[in-house]
Amino acid sequence: PWSADRAAQIIASHRDMAGATMPILHAIQEAFGFVPEPVVPMIAESLNLSRAEVHGVVTFYHDFRREPPGRHVIKLCAAEACQAMGATALAAYAEQKLGIEMGETSPDGRVTLEPIYCLGLCACAPSGLVDGRLVGRLDRTAIDELAAEANR
Ligand code: FES
Repeated sequence: PWSADRAAQIIASHRDMAGATMPILHAIQEAFGFVPEPVVPMIAESLNLSRAEVHGVVTFYHDFRREPPGRHVIKLCAAEACQAMGATALAAYAEQKLGIEMGETSPDGRVTLEPIYCLGLCACAPSGLVDGRLVGRLDRTAIDELAAEANR
């Protein structure tokens, strides 16, 4: 769970950096898995920005989650090289298999499905990142296995 004290520490340790908003948001997400809504005004106050400015950054960059992630996070590459190798159809299959759409977390909190944009693993397209582990040459069988793993 996130804590305001921990968030305040993170903000304090990054606030003097140039362009501190992004580093702070990344550090917050790293620590808590998402950017809790109450942290937005804390960042705004510390950096002398408006809440709307900080909120704008959080919503503009799809990397930032606004809800806690599921216990497993499956990211599927949606960039060009992977698309050329069938990533779009594979993503649709994963959505159907997991019963959630891209960007969603299953209601039971088990799994989050997210797009990601090029993992540098284009030679093994279509690729993804599963709980931080790079996976390549994904196909329907691999998605079935990942879904089974996520449901355990
Ligand atoms: Fe998917 Fe590069 S485009 S890994």
